[in-house]
Amino acid sequence: MSETEFPPSNTLPVLIDADRIRKRVEELGRKISEDYKNQPLVLLVVLKGSFLFCADLARQLSIPCRIEFIRASSYKDAKVSSGQLQLSELPDLRHANVLVVEDILDSGLTLQKILEHLRSENLASLEVCTLLSKQIPRDIQIEPKYIGFEIPNRFVVGYGLDYAERYREVPDIRCLD
Ligand code: IMP
Ligand code: MG
Repeated sequence: MSETEFPPSNTLPVLIDADRIRKRVEELGRKISEDYKNQPLVLLVVLKGSFLFCADLARQLSIPCRIEFIRASSYKDAKVSSGQLQLSELPDLRHANVLVVEDILDSGLTLQKILEHLRSENLASLEVCTLLSKQIPRDIQIEPKYIGFEIPNRFVVGYGLDYAERYREVPDIRCLD
């Protein structure tokens, strides 16, 4: 793969800057803390894209939580979904209030598959928190309880999101297309 495919991150237009992300994550943290007051909460983090979001979100919670991880990969190195999804083994989540923490809702395939798996477990509750949701028509109906930002149908990188494993460390969310 040639380096020309990966322009320097500071040349990519900013869609959401780090300061706006921080403020929104604070708000989400407050809301989730209120909603799950007195309920033991498990954050189920969808790797890799959500690692920064979850790290920041967890530190904005004023309630205790358990943090678990699941690995989902569908994109390989492409900018459009391959439609094929690999999921890692689930931790034991029986009787837990599970909040799935996702980086971005695009076609909805990833979340659909994860939610399908989780519904067969014996959970106390199941909700989704996604940092970003693309405003696109979807065949798959998924309604996250918490959405950080609705964004246009662009390919974005930064704040955990990658293109071919690049740009995850970038503090802002930027457009690559
Ligand atoms: P979906 O299964 O089509 O909803 O895609 C969800 C997954 O694809 C996300 O968890 C991301 O890892 C990846 N993805 C979707 N859109 C983007 C994007 O704009 N930039 C980077 N990754 C994306
Ligand atoms: Mg990805």
